[in-house]
Amino acid sequence: MVRGIGDSMSDKLVVFYSWGGNTKAVAEYISERVHADVLELTVAGSYPAEYNACVNKVGRNGRRYEPELVCHIPDLKKYNVLFVGSPCWWGTIANPLRTFLHGAELEGKTIAPFMTHGTSGLHVQDISMLCPGSKILKGLGIFNKYQVSTRENKISNMGDYRHQVDDWLSELGY
Ligand SMILES: Cc1cc2nc3c(=O)[nH]c(=O)nc-3n(C[C@H](O)[C@H](O)[C@H](O)COP(=O)(O)O)c2cc1C
Repeated sequence: MVRGIGDSMSDKLVVFYSWGGNTKAVAEYISERVHADVLELTVAGSYPAEYNACVNKVGRNGRRYEPELVCHIPDLKKYNVLFVGSPCWWGTIANPLRTFLHGAELEGKTIAPFMTHGTSGLHVQDISMLCPGSKILKGLGIFNKYQVSTRENKISNMGDYRHQVDDWLSELGY
């Protein structure tokens, strides 16, 4: 079961943005595995549902654009560890995660970054730059073939992402 905010004693939070549901599937599995609360970032005025239209809109806005978030951001004081996830967008983290990281008080927190992507991998350095006072752990990048082959938005295109998450979590000591 996915845990909401404020309904547990967990000191761990999975915070993520997902446009097509792939990063969300990974986020929910991480939360089940480590018993973390979950915060899904949502934006005012959604992105286009069609893949190319979304790619173009994001490209027009630019990589540094920070859209307004419409989800409630909880008090982060009780969380020591944040699993921070995003799809790769234009070679970096998705803009809604940028908004969150820029605005959040993350000094002294431990951050475990994860990303799903179509070829160009994990961009941990873009996360560390936005969290200068945090301890950044080894990240996880999960290859999602849908961009390069079918362009269909199917979670099965990530293959057995659960095993990759399991291996990563055990490397991190979970
Ligand atoms: C706007 C947009 C830009 C993207 N840019 C990249 C990119 O630069 N590099 C890459 O490897 N994948 C890119 N992708 C593919 C996504 O990172 C990949 O499909 C991801 O798994 C989608 O996650 P989601 O379903 O959680 O949104 C892009 C997808 C979108 C929609």
